[in-house]
Amino acid sequence: MPTTCVVGILWGDEGKGKVIDYLAADTDFVVRFGGGHNAGHTLVLPSGKLVLHLVPSGIVHPHTVNVIGNGVVVDPLHLCDEVAGLHERGMQVELGRNLLISERAHVILAAHRRQDEWAEKVRGSGRIGTTGRGIGPAYSDRCARVGLRMGDLCRPEALKNALTALAEQKNALFGPAGIEPLDCEQMLKELLAAGEKLKPGIVDTGAVLRQARRDDKRVLLEGAQGCLLDLEHGTYPFVTSSHASTGGAFSGTGMPPHEMKTVGIVKAYATRVGEGPFPTELHDEVGEKIRAAGNEYGSTTGRPRRCGWFDAVAVRYSGEVSGADELVLTCFDVLRGFPLKLATGYRLPNGDVTTALPAFDLERVEPQFVELPGFDEDISAVRVFDDLPANAKAYVQAIEEHTGLRVGTISVGPGRDQVIQR
Ligand code: GDP
Ligand code: IMO
Ligand code: MG
Repeated sequence: MPTTCVVGILWGDEGKGKVIDYLAADTDFVVRFGGGHNAGHTLVLPSGKLVLHLVPSGIVHPHTVNVIGNGVVVDPLHLCDEVAGLHERGMQVELGRNLLISERAHVILAAHRRQDEWAEKVRGSGRIGTTGRGIGPAYSDRCARVGLRMGDLCRPEALKNALTALAEQKNALFGPAGIEPLDCEQMLKELLAAGEKLKPGIVDTGAVLRQARRDDKRVLLEGAQGCLLDLEHGTYPFVTSSHASTGGAFSGTGMPPHEMKTVGIVKAYATRVGEGPFPTELHDEVGEKIRAAGNEYGSTTGRPRRCGWFDAVAVRYSGEVSGADELVLTCFDVLRGFPLKLATGYRLPNGDVTTALPAFDLERVEPQFVELPGFDEDISAVRVFDDLPANAKAYVQAIEEHTGLRVGTISVGPGRDQVIQR
């Protein structure tokens, strides 16, 4: 099947960047379909670590065309910096050749960053713990039909008019709310300068991708965030503002729905960064030990990630919602020396036990665990499933049994080659 969609299964940071880089070696196009620079996708290459935020994770492969789809919200100033950073590393990034940006993708403005910060302050103890990148307000403006699109950066007169109208509208609200007013002239200057740099890459990416489909090209759809951060299917309101699950893959690219393979990425334990319910979270020193062993700090904000046990209830749910054909299990090496626990059900406040993920009061469920014996061996050099310790194999089999999903690939280290194919 020429199209593969890669999605995060829980709350992001499952190792999508590593998996996409690995798969991109055999791919013609890698397409980001949602989110913005709230994402941080880590690649550990022979030349060192690379964290990508907006640029798709196929960029290291010289033959692969990387596309920022229409479903992404783009901060043009950030994108210019990210591309410049890649050039500084000596990477070949050529706008219009191996990096394309949808002219329909919406723009994140300074206004959105200020609104994001302000909304978090107002929420107080109910804050979402956003990345502060302006993601929610940019998507809100898209829905309210007042947003700017990347193609506008190449139309100076239209940009000036749209920006003036938007700034007028925003400033009328910003003043009373105590938000610093927008300097329209400064914004226009910055956006035009960014537009000048990005222009060669700003195209109708939907048309490019539909043609790629007609030509039977191999397309890899790169999800950002994870199914439980999906605006519709996640742990609302503690979610991001885009369709992070497979549902966003078609609307966010302009490719019509068609048959594809969906791969769900999930860690061998669970992490979350930001606020919101997390049933299997560890609040003790075991959680801290997992954080230390897995170096669990946000790739975008550096915040410590909350850590907990594998949650088969949540994974089964996300597997169904995303239509995942199989799982890639990452960070298995991190669990060396830990007990292997997985939640197989939730006890609800009324005493019933369920295997379904409730839409409400998730913070009130009590996970029901099964515990398996752990392994003490270093598995980071293992490349064949049968060479894993017996306890490690039994854990993988338990995950398959309790999630109903096949584990097709296991990642045993951050490096490109640290992969076990089954
Ligand atoms: P993404 O947002 O899903 O791309 O994931 P992030 O890059 O934010 O976070 C995943 C982290 O785990 C990164 O630091 C990766 O280098 C690292 N990683 C990925 N796979 C493995 C693995 O199998 N083992 C270990 N130890 N680290 C991994
Ligand atoms: P990748 O693609 C982990 C979280 C934030 C916050 C919530 C809303 O690297 O997996 P936002 O700024 O999007 O409005 O924040 O979503 N979040 C992520 N957590 N990985 C990400 O991306 C995330 N993108 C957003 O921490 O809880
Ligand atoms: Mg990440």
